[in-house]
This record gives sequence, structure tokens and C-alpha cells, in this order.
Amino acid sequence: MNISGCMGCGACFEKDRSGCAQKDDMEQIYEALREADTLVLASPVYFFNVTAQLKLAVDRIYALLSDMPPIKRMALLMTCGAKAEKVGDAAVAMVENLCAYSKWEYAGTVTATSVTNIGDIKNHAALEKAAALGREI
Ligand SMILES: Cc1cc2nc3c(=O)[nH]c(=O)nc-3n(C[C@H](O)[C@H](O)[C@H](O)COP(=O)(O)O)c2cc1C
Repeated sequence: MNISGCMGCGACFEKDRSGCAQKDDMEQIYEALREADTLVLASPVYFFNVTAQLKLAVDRIYALLSDMPPIKRMALLMTCGAKAEKVGDAAVAMVENLCAYSKWEYAGTVTATSVTNIGDIKNHAALEKAAALGREI
């Protein structure tokens, strides 16, 4: 998808609330978010956070704040090369804070560690954890 960064123009908060001024592939995500009860972000860890590509889409959620979608909960799925989940702490904090701010339930995070090469994810313990999180949701 081609998603531009939020320009902070504030058009989405103007009186007529015509949504985001930028017309790009984010429109498909807005459409899905307006009907979603659960938002799950999935990303590899890139320099201790979600990818810049995903962050662009997260920033554009700003345009929905003036007319909140029916989202009730949010979860995060990540893979990383490191052995320790803590490399994704900044991403977890972002999701926890976004949940607190938006009054969504934080459903949890599953991080698959030591995933560097194609195939490393096969039979990874995180897959069952992600499935369990899905069932819980
Ligand atoms: C630009 C870049 C930055 C990365 N930064 C980290 C990092 O900070 N910590 C980490 O553990 N792994 C890091 N990795 C490794 C990826 O998170 C890991 O290989 C991941 O499983 C890739 O997922 P994918 O196969 O879905 O792309 C980085 C990889 C790239 C390409």
C-alpha cells in the first residue's frame, strides 16, 4: 500500500469532519476501521519499534479521533531477530498508550523472537500464543 505520513493539517478536526484530507491507500484502512471491533497490528521489529511503514498508518488514525470507530480492543504481533522480547518494548508502549488514550482494551502482545531467516517462524512457540490470543479475543 502507498500510505503517506500525517501532515498534521487538522482538516480532520474541522467542523464538517470530512475525514483525512489525503486521499491514498489509507482510505481502504479507514473503511475497515470504521467496521472493526478489534485492531491487530503486525510488524517485524525494525530498530526497536514497528516498521516506519506501519507507523505511517498508525499516525493516520488521528483522522478518526474526531469520530471514533467502534474498535473495542487492540493487540500487537511482532517478530524480531533478537532472543529477548524487550527489543519491542517501544512498540508495546505505543499500543498500550494508544489503547489508554482511545479507551480500547489492550488485548496483549505476542512476539516471536530469534526469527532471522526464512523458516525460523515454523513451529515457533509464538504461533500457538498468537492463536490463543486470537481465541481469547
Ligand atoms: C531494517 C531492519 C531493522 C531491524 N531491527 C531489529 C531490531 O531492532 N531488533 C531485532 O531484534 N531485530 C531487528 N531486525 C530483524 C527483524 O525484526 C527480523 O528478522 C524479523 O523477523 C523480520 O520479519 P519479516 O521476515 O516478516 O520481514 C531488523 C531487520 C531489519 C531489516
